[in-house]
Amino acid sequence: PAEPVVLGIETSCDETGVGIVRGTTLLANVIASSMDEHARYGGVVPEVAARAHLEALTPTLDAALAEAGIALDEVDAIAVTSGPGLSGALMVGVGAAKALAVGSGKPLYAVNHLVGHVGADVLADEPIEFPTIALLVSGGHTSLLVVRDLVDDVELLGETIDDAAGEAFDKVARILGLPYPGGPQIDKAAVGGDPTAIRFPRGLLHPKDAEKHRYDFSFSGLKTAVARWVERAEDAGEAVPVADVAASFREAVVDVLLTKAFRACADLGIPRLLLGGGVVANARVREEAAARAASQGVTLRIPPLSLCTDNGAMIAALGAQLIAAGRAPSGLVFGADSTLPV
Ligand code: KG4
Ligand code: ZN
Repeated sequence: PAEPVVLGIETSCDETGVGIVRGTTLLANVIASSMDEHARYGGVVPEVAARAHLEALTPTLDAALAEAGIALDEVDAIAVTSGPGLSGALMVGVGAAKALAVGSGKPLYAVNHLVGHVGADVLADEPIEFPTIALLVSGGHTSLLVVRDLVDDVELLGETIDDAAGEAFDKVARILGLPYPGGPQIDKAAVGGDPTAIRFPRGLLHPKDAEKHRYDFSFSGLKTAVARWVERAEDAGEAVPVADVAASFREAVVDVLLTKAFRACADLGIPRLLLGGGVVANARVREEAAARAASQGVTLRIPPLSLCTDNGAMIAALGAQLIAAGRAPSGLVFGADSTLPV
């Protein structure tokens, strides 16, 4: 039988994404972001995000169908992110997907956002190999997974116990007087800075945390350390060396993220690492991940950025995998679950 055409809807955070795939082939990936509307608050405002999804969803859906060059009739199934994410934002996508499924008579699949990030990689040219360790880092999550099978064997190894990595970038950017979103701003500000100028703390890397938090992350202490450092400099009447602070902060984040990810590869004997989420856009993350992968004999996979940040194509791709595995549709009796486990 021909591979199913699946339409995926993603509204877990501030990106309204509609993607269309045929099996593992990408047909369309359209994203509308409400990032600009959140900029003046310095972070994503849930209520604003939900409202923006409501406005953006129909045009984004139309644009995706146009990009794929197909009519809704030609879609075989619909997939939607049911969690984790912001409740109000998720509800918009789930409601729309249900309406679409009922109206069109297509089967509906509820999918997990985090597993979707990994699922994006099936759209890459080279087939993804399992098992793989996956590190997902964005403004909303910092999760380390071991994925033995996309459909029924995904295990959460660890996650952040406070701020997400992207959130730390956003907060530190604000401390340095840089606009939102902070990640790209810190990348820019760090150019020419000395990453060893200031030794900022590495959260949960201490041996005393080795047992309980071996694969977990913490960034709020780092953020506070940067704030204190900047305050002290200002109180002393010194000019804040923004490039050095940005580079040193970024180095601390990258060090923790990659130390834990490669530790998981070594501990579990899995020489494969997949990266996903908006923070993967970071220049140092990419550079240092490539260097550590080469020296530790790990195969590194980083999907194109358009598939790393939140998008509908990854949700469609995971939906297609569920269908290929013979999974029954989810029906209509499921809700948005902001804390949905993998
Ligand atoms: O995956 P994403 O687009 O959306 C969600 O958060 O769900 O990720 C956005 C996050 C923001 O926190 C942003 O600051 C961060 O990714 N980010 C970066 C970079 N570009 C975006 N963080 C570090 N370096 C970057 N170059
Ligand atoms: Zn995400």
